[in-house]
Amino acid sequence: MIDAFISSEHVCPCNFHDRYKQKDAIEVRHMQDPYFIQATVSAPVKQINSQQRDVMADVFTLPPLTYAYDALEPYIDAKTMEIHYTKHHAAYVAGLNKAVEEFKIHDTDLKTLLAHHFDKPSVRNNGGGHYNHTFFWKIIDPKGSKEPIGALAKAIESEFGSIEAFKEQFTKAALSRFGSGWAWLVKTAEGKLKIISTGNQDVPFLAATGGIDGSKPIIGIDVWEHAYYLKYQNKRVDYVNAFYQIINWTLANELYG
Ligand SMILES: [Fe+2]
Repeated sequence: MIDAFISSEHVCPCNFHDRYKQKDAIEVRHMQDPYFIQATVSAPVKQINSQQRDVMADVFTLPPLTYAYDALEPYIDAKTMEIHYTKHHAAYVAGLNKAVEEFKIHDTDLKTLLAHHFDKPSVRNNGGGHYNHTFFWKIIDPKGSKEPIGALAKAIESEFGSIEAFKEQFTKAALSRFGSGWAWLVKTAEGKLKIISTGNQDVPFLAATGGIDGSKPIIGIDVWEHAYYLKYQNKRVDYVNAFYQIINWTLANELYG
């Protein structure tokens, strides 16, 4: 559960968020989704300072990357990480903020926002891009276990036969995604492990027609070319094999929990 901390210089300009107003510091619970461990998102606020008054702040912000761009070398090169994070992810955040403003959206929980506004391509693509990338940076965090552990390791062996068999199926999903998209290991609403693939920036927890289907992402790989082309060019399979070297299985096991 992630809480945003908004200082007293921020007040919400809309009636919806009047209940959050306080004289002193206020705390707004935002991401109900525990996967957004480092996501920083605030309620719509009006920043007031001496230089600039009555300017709408961005609703969603780029979450901090908790490791250096070269931390995943040699599996993901520093330049790819830098461009991926500062250009691609940042563009999704900017696009989402623009869409939120355009459609006067008040949902501050990104998961709910995506479910409510699935029919709006700018929200679906940019909101999905923000969600997926925020998840991705955490699941490749170099601080975690490099091998499957705990209950998740047991569940993978039970569901797929072995860790290697799981990797074979996951690789197949990642390679068979035509064009751009993602491959995921999810825990379904029924508690089963399942490998799925989503196109473009579609998220792993929405049904095809919109609406939350109860799936929880456990691991996910970005197979857009921007994620690997500088180092691997057209050899997506090499990138997928490298991904297995950098999965944060400690977090994945917690998410499976
Ligand atoms: Fe990406």
